[in-house]
Amino acid sequence: MDKILVHGGQRLSGSIRVSGSKNSALPILAACLLTKEPCIIRHVPDLSDVHYMLQILSHMGAEVERASGTVTVRAEKIKTVAPYDIVRKMRASVCVLGPLLGREKEATVSLPGGCVIGDRPIDLHLRGFEALGAAVRVECGNVKVFAARLKGQTINLRGKFGSTVLGTDNVMMAAVLAEGVTTIEGAAAEPEVVDLANFLNAMGAKIEGAGTRRIVIEGVEELHGAEHSVIPDRIEAGTFMVAAAIAGSRVTLRRVVPDHLKAISDALIQAGFGIETARDTLTVVGNGKPKPVELVTEPYPNFPTDMQAQMCALLCEGEGISVVTESVFPQRFMHVAELKRMGAQITLEGASAVIKGVERLSGAPVMASDLRASAALVLAGLRASGVTEVNRVYHIDRGYESIDDKLNGIGAQIERVKV
Ligand code: EPU
Repeated sequence: MDKILVHGGQRLSGSIRVSGSKNSALPILAACLLTKEPCIIRHVPDLSDVHYMLQILSHMGAEVERASGTVTVRAEKIKTVAPYDIVRKMRASVCVLGPLLGREKEATVSLPGGCVIGDRPIDLHLRGFEALGAAVRVECGNVKVFAARLKGQTINLRGKFGSTVLGTDNVMMAAVLAEGVTTIEGAAAEPEVVDLANFLNAMGAKIEGAGTRRIVIEGVEELHGAEHSVIPDRIEAGTFMVAAAIAGSRVTLRRVVPDHLKAISDALIQAGFGIETARDTLTVVGNGKPKPVELVTEPYPNFPTDMQAQMCALLCEGEGISVVTESVFPQRFMHVAELKRMGAQITLEGASAVIKGVERLSGAPVMASDLRASAALVLAGLRASGVTEVNRVYHIDRGYESIDDKLNGIGAQIERVKV
């Protein structure tokens, strides 16, 4: 198992090219199951979560080819059962349910468990399938959905924590091949949902309103093959923006959509950093210690939960007291105990982290618990004194393409050690 050693105190400057979005690529690859014809997907990031998804597609009977960032999927004949062995490694495997139900009118997929960021139910996905006329059975650890036919309906997908991203994706992917019109109310408006809708439309689907809270889908008889380029990863970009704020003088991110980064930019501006944008680049101008901020994570376009841990890492060395509240996954604070081992002063009050800035964190051995928490620990190590040893880095490789090489390219000193 690899570990990462971050030698703190290096000044970062230069530019980084942002990879394709993990959370777009995963459902888009699953959507390739909706047609017998080949689909060509570009800008697919090289991540272990993507490898798991490609394994699942191969298991389902699809032919999968990968040449650097381009993946070709041809799902001429498919199976409809995805067993525990192949889906347990990644929660996002649940997004094969929608395309299988849409195309074959049945799917059996092992249920995803919870994870360290909290309970991860799929009740809203299932509610959506039921509204389309499917029967749902949960037995022996599997969820089975089946229907003689799917019929368009108005479905409200708003849950007690707001909208659901993969739930919206899943229902959209089933509804594209349903009879009649499906309206999803309370839909997730994340750019990754829009990216999936654009790909589905390129395959011949008729979807309007993606990116708003109401998505209207007119069912079609069948979909055809298509080509698509995955959007830049706004969370990878945001992570490097925070790295630049922690340890940078001037860092430019290339291949980004500045609009997708607005909430993260606003938070950094509030903390006193400079942000300059052009068509597809964004520059963060370092400005010493962050000013205190109050932040609440919420669905897009507000501040993303996937950036909460990284922002906590920044604020640990800020002036005064900052408060970061998690409203999407209220238990997503596994990084707090690890940051405290580095000298951070953080108190958890319910779903809020109250962070009192300290002069400087100190390097320590720390344990990565999930993807974004691991990234936060690497970021915290960038300015900490001494060496921060981040263990269990397989979490980070799930969602960041060569984070160590990319940060080293702008002046960081990070080593990856095989243990
Ligand atoms: N929820 C329900 N019922 C459901 C589905 C969700 O109550 O049926 C709740 C969740 O427990 C949570 C909230 O609704 O409190 C939002 O969850 P959502 O369904 O939107 O999460 P997701 O679609 O499973 C995606 C990303 C996550 C990201 C969330 C929120 C992918 C592959 N995953 O998960 O990304 O945190 O949306 O934006 O797209 C990550 O990349 O590190 C990551 C965890």
